[in-house]
Amino acid sequence: MSSKTYDRIAPLYDALDFAYEVGWKRRLRSLVFAGTAGRILDAGAGTGCNMPLYPDGSEVVALDNSAAMLERAATRAARLGRSVDIRHGDLLDTGFPDGHFDHIVATFVFCVLPEPLQEPALRELARICRPGGTIRILDYTTSRRTPARIWMRAVSPWLRFAFAARYDASYESRLPAAGLETVESRHVFGDMVKLLVSRPVSAAARQSAA
Ligand SMILES: C[S@@+](CC[C@H](N)C(=O)[O-])C[C@H]1O[C@@H](n2cnc3c(N)ncnc32)[C@H](O)[C@@H]1O
Repeated sequence: MSSKTYDRIAPLYDALDFAYEVGWKRRLRSLVFAGTAGRILDAGAGTGCNMPLYPDGSEVVALDNSAAMLERAATRAARLGRSVDIRHGDLLDTGFPDGHFDHIVATFVFCVLPEPLQEPALRELARICRPGGTIRILDYTTSRRTPARIWMRAVSPWLRFAFAARYDASYESRLPAAGLETVESRHVFGDMVKLLVSRPVSAAARQSAA
């Protein structure tokens, strides 16, 4: 995904998303961070909507490939009085050492990554997550219920236009190929949004599977 889309919409992002944020996203963000501590990566941090949930005492890197989104994240961090390491970079090639983070969080990021980048992105996150650490994805899934499916189909053109996003990204089915195993997978807003917690498959488990 080109960072140009988000550079362009950065000034409007929070306003465009306001109703969703207040209506339900804020509540779900707290589920993502429950039980996290230590070194945390907020991958695709955007304007920093997750910042109020960063656990006290944690060391968080907020990474994004849109400089304009990060400018707003920096303003938010200052307003909240939080010390956050705000970095411009690509989550497909973060440059962090293997096993660097205790937890990695990606909220509404896989819905904007094109299909061919879903697995490479998961691989990179698996690489920089320590053994026993977790990767927590909060993102859309396609509903199985007809009314919700119809609603999602109707809103899809807006989602694509405003956020370059879609509801049917394939991140969950790609976990095994990326060297990740599922710890928890549950719907957290109807069956339209999922919290997916995974962890890197241990070397021992990889060997016994081979
Ligand atoms: C829909 S926004 C979500 C932002 C934030 N996580 C939230 O929950 O509000 C998606 C974010 O992912 C970022 N992004 C997309 N592709 C990226 C990549 N390859 N590397 C880093 N950030 C990326 C975009 O710039 C944008 O800020």
